[in-house]
Amino acid sequence: MVKVTVAGAAGGIGQPLSLLLKLNTNVTELSLFDIVNAKGVAADLSHINTPAVVKGYQPKDKEDRTAIVDALKGTDIVIIPAGVPRKPGMTRADLFNINASIIRDLVANIARTAPNAAILIISNPVNSTVPIAAQVLKKLGVFNPRKLFGVTTLDSVRAETFLGELTNTNPKNLKGKISVVGGHSGDTIVPLVNYEPSVRILNKKQYEAFVHRVQYGGDEVVKAKNGAGSATLSMAYAGYRFAEYLINTLSGGPNSYKVPDSAYIYLPGIEGGKEFSQKYLHGVEFFSVPVVLSNGEIRSFINPFEELRVTEEENKLIGVALKGLKGSIDQGIEFVNASKL
Ligand code: NAD
Ligand code: LMR
Repeated sequence: MVKVTVAGAAGGIGQPLSLLLKLNTNVTELSLFDIVNAKGVAADLSHINTPAVVKGYQPKDKEDRTAIVDALKGTDIVIIPAGVPRKPGMTRADLFNINASIIRDLVANIARTAPNAAILIISNPVNSTVPIAAQVLKKLGVFNPRKLFGVTTLDSVRAETFLGELTNTNPKNLKGKISVVGGHSGDTIVPLVNYEPSVRILNKKQYEAFVHRVQYGGDEVVKAKNGAGSATLSMAYAGYRFAEYLINTLSGGPNSYKVPDSAYIYLPGIEGGKEFSQKYLHGVEFFSVPVVLSNGEIRSFINPFEELRVTEEENKLIGVALKGLKGSIDQGIEFVNASKL
């Protein structure tokens, strides 16, 4: 029995993500929450002949908390793509003013109604929205760092696709062979690929173009959509790819396994994470690293410096990423500290 809730289910990501979740036969209940059209999306998906029972919840007005409480009750996993996407000319950080309070309020509701749920945050800026979620959960006394994930899988998906194109390799064969670490925005995104043999056929210029494309792949989609939003379909695929691992660990799948994707997590809450952050990350506490999942939570993480043979060049990229991450993390934490929950 696995109940999954999607908050922001009627949006560009929410709808295809909910469709993919409905197709997963390990999901027994799919709870769709949005401030608009959640019931319509739920009615539509409920006609698909898979076991998950689909229910839609939307508040009657701004004061109505019943819908979110009902949507969250008894849920094992909450996936959050709620909030606004970028338009051309904006950075992800420009979304902070609107999305920070959406995440704060949704996570406060999760803390009060489903404190044991795993929370997967898609809403941008991920570098700040995950620290916001952590701080809300801390303030409300229910923070379990093993169950909080910033979803950065789209960066892995892009890295596999773009490297596959450049090296004429089937991208499916690159899944799990390369990792993306850091954060989820521009130069905080760091693909680690040099331990993959096919990379050796790339010259310096091609390698640098590859790194840049992974870091700024989101901009390509924002530009092409020309004001109609950012990546939705590839994100729904990526979000589902990560959620599926977690669902598997709750559905009698392998008790514990290493997923080929990273997630942006609070390291000091995971065994060895505090030491890793101090030794390699100048004390930066939120960072995306490959994870090992078990029973719906993080069991451990992969230390890229010890297990992935990070090159000097990649190490420099990590140094740049750390500088960018620090401010975004602090901004999120300060925002919650100044908020009344
Ligand atoms: P969208 O505007 O199409 O959908 C967002 C949905 O959230 C809408 O249906 C809206 O009604 C809903 N919503 C707003 N406030 C809400 C609230 N308080 N509670 C519940 N629902 C609420 O946007 P989208 O394209 O689906 O993108 C959503 C977010 O995901 C954006 O912030 C975007 O930047 C981010 N994103 C992240 C990644 C990633 O890799 N992590 C990738 C793509 C997009
Ligand atoms: C992405 O990487 O596509 C998302 O973070 C959306 C964006 O704003 O680029």
